[in-house]
Amino acid sequence: MPDDRPIGMFDSGSGGLTVARAVLDLLPNEPLVYFGDTARFPYGDRSVAEIRSFAREIARFLLDRDVKMLVVACNSVEVAGIEELTDRAGVPVIGVIEAGVRAGLRATRNGRVGVIGTVATIESGAYLRAVAREDGEVRLVSAACPAFVPHVERGDTTSPELLAKARGYLQPLVAEEVDTLILGCTHYPLLSGLLQVVMGPDVVLISSAEEVAKDVYAALVRDDLLRREARPPVHEFLCSGDAGSFAELGRRFLGPEIDQVRPQSVQPAREGSGWS
Ligand code: DGL
Repeated sequence: MPDDRPIGMFDSGSGGLTVARAVLDLLPNEPLVYFGDTARFPYGDRSVAEIRSFAREIARFLLDRDVKMLVVACNSVEVAGIEELTDRAGVPVIGVIEAGVRAGLRATRNGRVGVIGTVATIESGAYLRAVAREDGEVRLVSAACPAFVPHVERGDTTSPELLAKARGYLQPLVAEEVDTLILGCTHYPLLSGLLQVVMGPDVVLISSAEEVAKDVYAALVRDDLLRREARPPVHEFLCSGDAGSFAELGRRFLGPEIDQVRPQSVQPAREGSGWS
């Protein structure tokens, strides 16, 4: 049955807007409710238990808003507990890791692939497992880049300080001569210019965003959830921190679709709600 409800999407902040952009481009008829947990980013330095409890709160909040699908536009949330969300949500749940791995394996020519992400993502080993499942021959070299997200959330994607940090983080991947780099954090596509300079022009940078958008479309078709209404959809952008600065950053990163951001706090999941 056609379904006019919105797609719910969330991240710790504005990184997930890279996924939102790809979804809006591919599915211009679908309404989106986006939540950025800007009061509590970065997630990547937090414990798995903490990230998981934030994810539960946000998922429950979005499901209360009657979304027809959840897009976890955050690698750090996915490694901390996408299985639980998938089991309990009662709507399709789409992540970003398989999508990035698929595109990375398609792109590599020499079988040496790099992945960068937050400490939580890299320490989880999720990319190593996902690559091994798909292709045991490929060598995956990983590096955590904890300073990147705070720079992006400040709107800094090009400064000399950031470039120096990137050179340090990526040096082992350059030394291993990876020919493909998976951006294992949804904030990192916003650093593509800088990352390309550090890695060199021949290295293919992989953002999962476009692949995720295709997965979203495939799931909507599979479950007959596409919106049929012809009127342009209305999107909602919400964040837990300062709405003004999120709107400003969001307009730079995502574009004019973000005309207004509403501040929104989420409550800890209640005992007995199935999400506690
Ligand atoms: N954008 C998120 C990710 O993909 C993480 C950012 C953070 O550390 O908050 O992992």
